[in-house]
Amino acid sequence: MTDYTLLNAQLTALIEDEPDRTANLANAAALLKSELPDVNWAGFYLVGPARRPGADELVLGPFQGLPACIRLPYNKGVCGTAWARNTSLVVADVHAFPGHIACDSASLSEVVVPLRDASNRVVGVLDLDSPRHGRFTDDDLRGLEAFCHTLESRLAFHPKESS
Ligand code: SME
Repeated sequence: MTDYTLLNAQLTALIEDEPDRTANLANAAALLKSELPDVNWAGFYLVGPARRPGADELVLGPFQGLPACIRLPYNKGVCGTAWARNTSLVVADVHAFPGHIACDSASLSEVVVPLRDASNRVVGVLDLDSPRHGRFTDDDLRGLEAFCHTLESRLAFHPKESS
């Protein structure tokens, strides 16, 4: 079982003195990929403008794993659904999730946790994929939500902490 208290302390140590969001998300992805067993992809998608004027999309951010889909639509796939519902999603079998977007055929289960700003708006998501069915437990979800809270408080998504 992963020690998420230790993982969170490692994250804080990595990012506390560094204001650059890309650098901090990159180290967060590397930490997750190196510390969590049976994870083949760990990374972030950030809400950004679509290439054609219109609704926002999730745009690929820092990650570890195989090259991935760059843009994910709102309310589509696991990430877009977590964004639209503003909630975490644990998917034990990605092939049973309607509209799942496959970036790596090795991925069999997935967890997605929203990153939110101070107004509770989703600004991005953390996405983890595993080659094992049912890889992510309630304990993982709680730990990853705490991990994302640490990121939210340090990444200037909260205006009061951006100065
Ligand atoms: N499976 C995700 C797409 C992103 S990749 O897993 C990296 C989805 O359905 O949204």
